[in-house]
Amino acid sequence: MAGNGVFAEIYDGEVEVYKYYADGHWHKSSSAKSVSIINPTTRKTQFKVQACTQEEVNKVMEAAKVAQKAWARTPLWKRAELLHKAAAILKEHKAPIAECLVKEIAKPAKDAVTEVVRSGDLVSYTAEEGVRILGEGKLLVSDSFPGNERSKYCLSSKIPLGVVLAIPPFNYPVNLAVSKIAPALIAGNALVLKPPTQGAVAALHMIHCFHLAGFPKGLINCVTGKGSEIGDFLTMHPGVNCISFTGGDTGIAISKKAGMIPLQMELGGKDACIVLEDADLDLVAANIVKGGFSYSGQRCTAVKVVLIMDSVADEVVEKVKSKMGKLTVGPPEDDCDITPVVTESSANFIEGLVMDAKEKGATFCQEYRREGNLIWPLLLDHVRPDMRIAWEEPFGPVLPIIRIQSVEEGIHHCNASNFGLQGCVFTRDINKAIMISDAMETGTVQINSAPARGPDHFPFQGLKDSGIGSQGITNSINMMVKVKSTVINLPAPSYTMG
Ligand code: G3P
Repeated sequence: MAGNGVFAEIYDGEVEVYKYYADGHWHKSSSAKSVSIINPTTRKTQFKVQACTQEEVNKVMEAAKVAQKAWARTPLWKRAELLHKAAAILKEHKAPIAECLVKEIAKPAKDAVTEVVRSGDLVSYTAEEGVRILGEGKLLVSDSFPGNERSKYCLSSKIPLGVVLAIPPFNYPVNLAVSKIAPALIAGNALVLKPPTQGAVAALHMIHCFHLAGFPKGLINCVTGKGSEIGDFLTMHPGVNCISFTGGDTGIAISKKAGMIPLQMELGGKDACIVLEDADLDLVAANIVKGGFSYSGQRCTAVKVVLIMDSVADEVVEKVKSKMGKLTVGPPEDDCDITPVVTESSANFIEGLVMDAKEKGATFCQEYRREGNLIWPLLLDHVRPDMRIAWEEPFGPVLPIIRIQSVEEGIHHCNASNFGLQGCVFTRDINKAIMISDAMETGTVQINSAPARGPDHFPFQGLKDSGIGSQGITNSINMMVKVKSTVINLPAPSYTMG
């Protein structure tokens, strides 16, 4: 079980609370308080983590600042070597970390293992990419700009920002943490992680793998606690030089309060799936089910609204219904496709959207069924724009279908959303697909496949309320550095040789 073996030191067995990580050690908070993590399946307390204080955050920030200065001088190849080591340790311990994901966020067992392995691969790839892109600089000469002689040489290179604050969401507490941690570290930054409450224990185990790899003390830190106590305190802390956040609209509030520092944000989406009449309808149905219902729809990149040409809608709905009938529903330990959603309040929110659609006349393709946090997969047909589910993000296994009379109507609905993360279009006509992609106001458009963030080196970004900046390994490394120039000024022309 979690907290055993190599992970024993991260757990305070006396009071059964996980410790937080600062200055290279595992600590109990002076608050003597803890935060409970409720298992979404049993709805009982599964784990407890420390409720860190603001004073502890201050100490972490000071230690991180000191450690970062030395880390910035550590050769790039050595930084990469440590990251490769951490990646190997992470993969070696995939089973206990995956077990935490199953218990904390009800991630299906196989997907939980996949998340950890994917994370190890991400860390290794980041190390390699960092060595390549941070090992290069630029040389500029002055006489390419009007009025200048060839008397100045500008050398530009990339330097770290300082301390990066990483705040990942509950749905990928390991993978979306390392997607921030690894770029920050390879670029020479220190790191403070504030994991989500649901997923905090998986994140602490992951951080322990970095600890075991032997990173310098104070460079990597993980503080747990109540958002009300340390949330704003962290995001507004003067010691923070960059924030990388993935989550809900809290990100909008953070962006307003954060100081003059670079921000990287991914804040969800209402990813539209536009289906044309000439599409391969079996492919469409398979992608709607996979895109809409994997991890019970709790992905920013889940298909969240299907905009389908009316003439093919009946056929697709039948195909989707038949595939949905094969989805298994139950506990994550049994590796069911549909598992309980993360909290009771999430389940209540989803139910609110379903009831609103019911009152306003949506067609239920299955009976609505809920037991605790477990909601059976539901397809809502004939959804209209006056229904909340046409616009809001359920983050659950409930998918609306809006029948459209023209492609323009689909694009219009997609672009009327406040979100703009991803979208997809299904057609056999590649020219049309590219024109539709150009017209869709989203950070990514997938042609003939459901939205997805991976592979993790692809650029990943949202427009409008879906985010700030671009992620993906290369973009994240570049976001966590600034450019530094050194200009060599040659003597006046009278000194020129020859
Ligand atoms: O919800 C997080 C978002 O980044 C989804 O990632 O890998 O499921 O497409 P993925």
